[in-house]
Formats: sequence, C-alpha cells, structure tokens
Amino acid sequence: MGFVLGISAYFHESSVALFKDGDLIFFCREEYFSRIKADKSFPRLCLNYCKKTFDLNEDNIERVVFYEKPLRSFLISSKVAFQSFPASFWLLINNFMKIRKSGMFFYSDFKRTINVPTAKLSFCPHHLSHAYSVIPFSNKDEPHLSLVLDGFGDVFSTSAYLVENQKISLLKSINYPGSLGLLYSAITEHLGFRVNDGEFKVMALAAYGDGSLNAKFRETIGGIKTGEINLKAFKFYKSISEHLDRPFYAVFGKKREEMEVFPQIGTEGFQKLANLANAAQSYIEDEVKNLVLELIDKTSIQTIYLSGGVALNSKLVSSLKEIKALKKVFVPPNPGDSGAAIGAGVFGCLLSGQDITRNHDAFLGPSAVNQDGILQKFGEKIASGKTATQETAKLISEGNVIAILNGKSEVGPRALGNRSLVCDPRNEVVTFELSTKLKRREHFRPLAPAVLENEAENWFEFPLSMKKCLPWMACLAEAKPKTKKLIPSICHIDGSARLQNVMPTQVDFYELIAAFKKITGIPVLVNTSLNCGGDPIVLDVYDLITTMLRMKIKYTLCNGELWKLDEKHFV
Ligand SMILES: [Fe+2]
Repeated sequence: MGFVLGISAYFHESSVALFKDGDLIFFCREEYFSRIKADKSFPRLCLNYCKKTFDLNEDNIERVVFYEKPLRSFLISSKVAFQSFPASFWLLINNFMKIRKSGMFFYSDFKRTINVPTAKLSFCPHHLSHAYSVIPFSNKDEPHLSLVLDGFGDVFSTSAYLVENQKISLLKSINYPGSLGLLYSAITEHLGFRVNDGEFKVMALAAYGDGSLNAKFRETIGGIKTGEINLKAFKFYKSISEHLDRPFYAVFGKKREEMEVFPQIGTEGFQKLANLANAAQSYIEDEVKNLVLELIDKTSIQTIYLSGGVALNSKLVSSLKEIKALKKVFVPPNPGDSGAAIGAGVFGCLLSGQDITRNHDAFLGPSAVNQDGILQKFGEKIASGKTATQETAKLISEGNVIAILNGKSEVGPRALGNRSLVCDPRNEVVTFELSTKLKRREHFRPLAPAVLENEAENWFEFPLSMKKCLPWMACLAEAKPKTKKLIPSICHIDGSARLQNVMPTQVDFYELIAAFKKITGIPVLVNTSLNCGGDPIVLDVYDLITTMLRMKIKYTLCNGELWKLDEKHFV
C-alpha cells in the first residue's frame, strides 16, 4: 500500500500529515519550515521535506485528502454575506479577491509540488476532518460522542456525532454564522489581542474576572438555542473590519487597541478587561456543558472526544468535570485546524480500506540534528549521556534557563519537552523573567508545569476522566496546598495549572525531571515553548542558535548533549 496524505491550508496554520499503511508517520506545520508564524500558505516546504525524507513521489502516493470542501465553504460564507448586502459589500469583494489563495486552487497547488493524477485527490468535510483527527491518539475503538467546536468549516460551526461500530452519524449541528468559536475570537479582538493567537490570553485573563458581567453578557449575546449566539451583536459575517456590532458596544464599550499598554493587575482598567474575558469564558463553558448534557441524554454514551479550535481551550475542557455522567473526556494533542490534516489523512486511509494505528504519542515532526556541526561554531560541549542530564538538572536548580532541542518536534501548539525552555519552578524571579522578558508574554499569564507522571497526584488534583489528555496539556489541574507553597510560580491566580504529565516513555525529559527531583525534592519543571515571543517554535539547530543568541540563553540540552554557548556571540 502507498502513502496517504492529509493537507490543511489557506485558512489557519497549514500542515501536512503523512500515513503509511494506516499509520501516522509524520506531521508538521508549514510555519516550522517557513519561519512565518501561523503560515497559512500551501504547505510546499512540508511536502518537499516529505519528498526528501520519505522518498514520496507521484507513484507511491495512494491518496491525498484536503481538510475541507472549499467550494461549499465559499458558497456558504458568500450566501450569508449576501443576506446583509450592501453592508457586506467589502466582505464579498474580499472573498472573491482571495479565491486564488483558497482551497479552490488545491488541485493545481498540489500538482505543482507533486504531480499526482487528479483521481488521487479528494476532499473531506471539515468537521469530519476534526472528528477523525482524534483517532490516531485514542487507545481503542470505543463507542463515543465526538463534539467538534470550531470557528467555521464548510457549513458547520458546531457539530456532534455518534461514533459506534466503525460508523459515524451526525447527532446535531449548528451552522455558520452561529459560532461559539467566532464569538470567542470576536472577544479576543475586542480585548486588543490578535485573533487565532490571543485566545489563550483571554482564557488566562478570565481567571481574574469577578463574574459581574456574566449575566449582562448572556443577555446581550446569547442565542435562542444551546450553542447559538445573538447575531445582532456581531458583524464578522458581514464586515471585513469588525467582529462586533452596536448592541455589544452599547453595553460593553469600544474595543481596546492592540498597541495600547495592557493595564496592570489591580487597576480598574485591568479588572474591566478581566471581567469581560471571564464573561466570554463562562458563556462558552456553560453552552458546551449544556450541549454535552443534551448529547448524553440523547444517547446515554458517557465518553466524549473533543476537537476543533475551541477544544484548545483547556479551561473549557476542564469545566466538563462538573458533568458527573461523563466517564471519559479525550482531546487530541492538536484539535485545531492544523491538526485537522491528520483527520483528513484518516478519512483517506478509511477510503482505502486501511486500519488506523492508534495510541500515537505527540512527537511526529522532523528530527533535530546538529547540522553542519553548527553548535561547535558557537559553543562547547560540556557533557553527554547521563552526565549531561545530571549537569543540566544542576544548572536548572542554580537558576539557569535551559533550551531543550531533542528528537522529533511536537504535533500540537504546546511544547512538551522536545522543543522547550525549562527552569526551576521554585524560582519565581527566573520564571517571571522567562515569561515576561524572554518570551514577552503578558504579565497575567502563568507558565505551565511538567511533572513526572507517577508524582502528579501528589502535587495536583485532576479529574481522572481526563487523565489521558494530561501528557499534552489538554486540561487544567488544581494545585495542592503544598504545590502553591513550594512552587507558586506555576500556579494561576485561581489555583489552576496547565499540567503536563510526563510519561516514562518520554525517556529523556522524564529522566531530566527525575534528576532535578533528586537535587531539589521537586518532581516538576517549568516548561514553555522554545521560541522568542511571536516566532514559530524552533525546528532545527539553526533556529536554536538564533533563538538562544536573541534571548541570551547560555545552555542547551541538544539530543542528549549539554552545550554552553560562548557569550561573545551575545550582542
Ligand atoms: Fe476547523
């Protein structure tokens, strides 16, 4: 059997997923290669990497599947916009102008990179791409509900399926423009953050809110049925420049401009923004909980898989613990649009009669290698093997930030120890500097803890129904009292932490944390992605050196070797 490819492109971060005999053997986002954050152009560089690394060619490709039906998407969004004509005039013009850079040119763009026969190219409905993206990471074929929470794809914004006996059937759907995802994006923009980037910031900010705007928010933007929104408060479906409309502004005021300095915690301005973030967060949590309750009522199924960009909201995922009837909640490492390439690939494999290999971990990208001996040119090797692990743990305990570049890159947007910056969670000064000065993150966003899996329950409380998501930070945990006392730097204002359980199978990272525990008694490291604020995560040694020089980070643990950069290169 040949290769099956799933492709995501033109809308969010583009990506490629590669399957061989039903087994997901590679996944990468284009931004890793192009170094353009959230690159949505056709993933030519990813495909060229696949050609070179896996000897991919027109003969050994069995099928290529695009992650949505682009014509249907175009027609639906244009039809909705036409209903608001002439207010939507510029949005319609924009839609037509962007056709060349849309999925409608997928055939020709793909053929220009690999000239496969047209019969091998096909499209998967977008929400099925999301729903299927979970399968390679799940551990068994079990009856479950699959809830897709998205901005917009093809027709649906929200959809729910029953997956049983290898069959998937639609239970419920909410069509564009009634979208919980686009509601959250609209609030993200209103708070002065960039859409498709600032949603995590809104989630973090929400923890500071006092709930005082929640009722007013529901009254203003709430829809008639569960999961819907009041379209009169929104403009995203008819305007090119604004997401929200007058009824919203009349109650909550004008938006904060992106360039404005963000107010400090404790000020009136900060509290106002936090209260609005809290209202949006509470609204989508309540709506999703009600949707899930409806689905359980209808089917009596107590296992749910979540996907779609909204499923990246770990606070929302955690809120489902309040539904006692739910026995299992599962989210894949990349539930968003780039991860939907994996689902498109699964769709292709199923069409070809291939069984999908399950139980994948979250490391499927390009491997790190010390190309051209570049590390030797900028620094010296201090140690390798076990000694490197022990020396690195010691350096961390002494207050150093370490850049880790190891093996294959992560599937999702969260660094899990192969492309990470780590530091000592006891050290609040270093953690705060890493977050705000080096990574240029907002002061209200905490960094996340990576904990040895067998120690997690001693330091954190988390719903057992979500345990399978913990290796890739898909939900939140509550810090225990001793955690708040000994390592407060990883706790958010509400006592939560975006926990990563590090499994023993992730040998190198596990052993590093174990070595740190031997020195300090703490089985936890602060873990954040290896990049400068606003850059894509580091892919290879060249990006590593550039990033370390810009951030003035001295030490790197690269593929099991500890290196120290020569400070004369720091400018
Ligand atoms: Fe999507």
